[in-house]
Amino acid sequence: MCGIVGYIGEKNAQEIIIGGLSKLEYRGYDSAGIAVLTKDGLAYEKAKGRLAVLEERLEGKPLTGSVGIGHTRWATHGKPSDENAHPHTDAHAKFAVVHNGIIENFLAIKEELIAKGYTFVSETDTEVIAHLLADMYDGDIVSTAQRAVRRMRGAYALGIMTEHEPDKLVAVRLASPLIVGVGDGESFIGSDIPALLEHTRDVYILNEGEMAVLTREGVELYNAETGERIEKELFHVDWDLVQAEKGGYDSFMLKEINEQPQAVRDTMGARIDPETKRVVLPELKMSDAELATYDRIYIVACGTSMHAGLVGKEVIEKLVRVPVEVAIASEFRYRDPIYTPNTLVIVISQSGETADTLAALREAKKSGVKVLAITNVVGSSVAREADEVLFTWAGPEVAVASTKAYTSQVVVLNLFALYLAQVKGTQTPEQIAEIVDQMLQLPAKIGEILKRTDALRSYAESIKEVNSLFFIGRSLDYAVSLEGSLKLKEISYIHSEAYAAGELKHGTLALIEDNVPVIALATQPDIYEKMISNIVEVKARGARVLGFALEGDEELIKTVDEVIHIPATLPFLTPLLTVIPLQLLAYYASTARGNDVDKPRNLAKSVTVE
Ligand code: G6P
Repeated sequence: MCGIVGYIGEKNAQEIIIGGLSKLEYRGYDSAGIAVLTKDGLAYEKAKGRLAVLEERLEGKPLTGSVGIGHTRWATHGKPSDENAHPHTDAHAKFAVVHNGIIENFLAIKEELIAKGYTFVSETDTEVIAHLLADMYDGDIVSTAQRAVRRMRGAYALGIMTEHEPDKLVAVRLASPLIVGVGDGESFIGSDIPALLEHTRDVYILNEGEMAVLTREGVELYNAETGERIEKELFHVDWDLVQAEKGGYDSFMLKEINEQPQAVRDTMGARIDPETKRVVLPELKMSDAELATYDRIYIVACGTSMHAGLVGKEVIEKLVRVPVEVAIASEFRYRDPIYTPNTLVIVISQSGETADTLAALREAKKSGVKVLAITNVVGSSVAREADEVLFTWAGPEVAVASTKAYTSQVVVLNLFALYLAQVKGTQTPEQIAEIVDQMLQLPAKIGEILKRTDALRSYAESIKEVNSLFFIGRSLDYAVSLEGSLKLKEISYIHSEAYAAGELKHGTLALIEDNVPVIALATQPDIYEKMISNIVEVKARGARVLGFALEGDEELIKTVDEVIHIPATLPFLTPLLTVIPLQLLAYYASTARGNDVDKPRNLAKSVTVE
């Protein structure tokens, strides 16, 4: 995830910016850069690789000045390279921009600027901002930035400076996080609090659509769209550095659970054309014609990534009518799978380094089968070795129990299914547009669920002493149950099993007795009544049932003991919502038992051994 740092004051900007960027390294990045207003004008340096590479380059020729912006880049548009690293400037290097997020309509703006004679040196969406500012500049960077923001759609955060107005920095937040620090005779920009903590504890946390104008004297806040002044209170940070890296949350896991609206939004990002309501996957190298030939898919992964694959299977089969088999990588690699000439293998791995997944990828490639990877880590082994890569843009996941990676993987699988449906013509443009509309509403719906935690917290408290519990569901609810059960096991150490509800009576029902907790997912309209029958079966044996239903469902409560409601969406998108309270439940059960949420016993984040 990109990191932004900015400084205006009396001190050495380079030192402060590099120091700040080093505090953002935990977000993950593949290149870094800095721009400073020196006595000779705006100067910059950028380099692919670690921050140390940039520092080395600066050693011989430091950028001396007291105003600057810096950036760590996590590649989205364009590969990691010196050219694609930020800051980006206009042709005369009068304006410099650092950017986190995605400008969805950058292509249209770029074409317009090219027609006007502007030339581009990078593959990024960010570079258009620098040229756009130069093109629109009216002598006032604040009003120019406001007008430029009105032209740009997307979810992003920006740091802007110009040689024309050396006593100002501009920061804009549209969705991607950004904060502004206030010091004595100095002001700061940062993607996150740790970047600034060494220098100030007084910050403005910018809300979506807010713009800050920083000078040495202080900070003024504006509505980025209308240009109206905003007053808001300074937030005083009293966390230590470790707490700050967790964004004030008690654990990385809780932080990452709460980052899901952003992760889902970023992952959809520029892959949905808001005008045509169609999916675009410019990162795919293969042609649409080739893609259309695939008529059989294996999804191969481990753990939570495999569970994301189970959801993906249902979605692809529903929208594209192509058979999909989901396989556990450690099984698949030794299995001698049956490949047809038109088989595609999709491997899913958050880290991109899981040994079994990597081995399965290599086996498939050896057999001459095309492999498409879905991963969260640019430059990982899986990303490098696969024929095709679709990245999840979830940002780094630190907690061992995977949360935002799962939801982002499911989003990519949905996008891929839609794209395949477009290419094969199995859904009409109207059907695609309706699904796209619903997908765009998901971040807000996840946000709603994240606000309602009380019932989950008290339920978690009520199960903290139990030895065993069951999750039941059918079809997609079953797929999500498997993930809910895995989360609970991993971090609370409570034994749990997920069961396809219709299969209960073939064995597991024998384990249901008085007060055994059962979590029953009933969000799928097609098989709702069947699900109710299964719930009645466990109730009749004394189970204590927590049900999950769609908003507006007044029926389920008549059968179960308690209900958690999920905002309504299309049935095959519901897993992206249902999983959130299940993650929270696992989290609260873990904390209720006093466990280390982020580092569960016996488990590792990335399993690079067989
Ligand atoms: C480990 C992690 C899990 C993860 C699995 C697969 O077991 O603890 O959270 O789901 O590996 O990891 P990957 O990086 O390949 O998605």
